[in-house]
Amino acid sequence: MSTSKPIWQQLAKTKVYFGAGSAKRLPELLGSRKTLLVTTRGTVTRGTIDALFEGGNTGRLELFDQVKPNPSLDDFEGGALELRDGDYECIVAVGGGSVIDTAKCFSVLLYSVNSLSDLIDDSDLMLSTKTIPVIAVPTTSGSGSEVTPFATVWDYAQKKKLSLAADSILPESAIVDPALTLSLPLRETLSSGLDAISHAFESVWNMNATPATTAIATHALKLGLSSIAEVATRPDDLDIRSAMSKASLVGGIAISHTRTAFAHSASYPLTIHFGVDHGFACSIFLPAILKFNSVGDDGRLSKLANDLGHRDLPALRRYLDELLSALNLQKFLSSFDLSPNRLSALEGEMITPLRADNNMRKIKPDDVKTIVFDTSEMLQRLQIR
Ligand SMILES: [Fe+2]
Repeated sequence: MSTSKPIWQQLAKTKVYFGAGSAKRLPELLGSRKTLLVTTRGTVTRGTIDALFEGGNTGRLELFDQVKPNPSLDDFEGGALELRDGDYECIVAVGGGSVIDTAKCFSVLLYSVNSLSDLIDDSDLMLSTKTIPVIAVPTTSGSGSEVTPFATVWDYAQKKKLSLAADSILPESAIVDPALTLSLPLRETLSSGLDAISHAFESVWNMNATPATTAIATHALKLGLSSIAEVATRPDDLDIRSAMSKASLVGGIAISHTRTAFAHSASYPLTIHFGVDHGFACSIFLPAILKFNSVGDDGRLSKLANDLGHRDLPALRRYLDELLSALNLQKFLSSFDLSPNRLSALEGEMITPLRADNNMRKIKPDDVKTIVFDTSEMLQRLQIR
């Protein structure tokens, strides 16, 4: 790692409240502010919102419960148009990454006269745009969006994944209450958990990594890798849910500094063309990228393998293969056509600027072919193809 970079940068200015029962703080954090609560219809139906405000004052609270998975430019702008006259002083997001990212986009769009595309393209415009404070209450353990200054925006017309990025959309507070994840179905539990694990790996094998971010990401990996198989068999175990929530939070802090890298870059066409769950789409590339990055390792990956309890990098790669196999991903991925031909056809779209170039080893088009080939082989072994 280069010594010309700062060894530390203030990573998260978000006030984080963590622990089972911490969600009870929400009414107190809102105070008397006029608040827009952003969530999904399902979260409301399951009673999560009522439980959060049990006995608390909901007098200045208005509800937007129309968040869709992987929301688009049109979803954000259409929603904001309906809400523009609300004069909100705070936005609360209760849900997964898509909900928190929607709240972040609303926090900008409810004030701004500019389009979301313009704000994404022009960082100076974002700097001069006022935002509404966001309080994030994640109900999944994976996106880390509660502590990142990014919001994912899907452009289905252009078949592109975009990112709104600015310190001003970093949430004011995050309440990470693992008890809220107890009712998360297995598919979302595993997909979001693998997203958190992907964030942590991508933060380590990243051009922007520093000793501090690597230490944080390694901590996230220790928590996530030791818990994800267990959470599948014991979803009601609050200690395991807590470990997953912490892995997600800590992984989010790591990528808020480094951003993600090639696994995310390669995953986007799988999500935009086929609808593959984000965490699954990222994680299937991890073993092949680990192998690719092992060539010319500057020592950080060998250290990571040792820190995670493995003798060397090949042992860590075998472990990753076995973990993905133990999670029975074929159950969730068999409905998608991830055949070698289909994956190869997407190679040209897998290099996303500002993500692929973060990888510690430069990735050329031929390298994408190799990574896709190795990934296809693994998918065949896992009987996903
Ligand atoms: Fe992610």
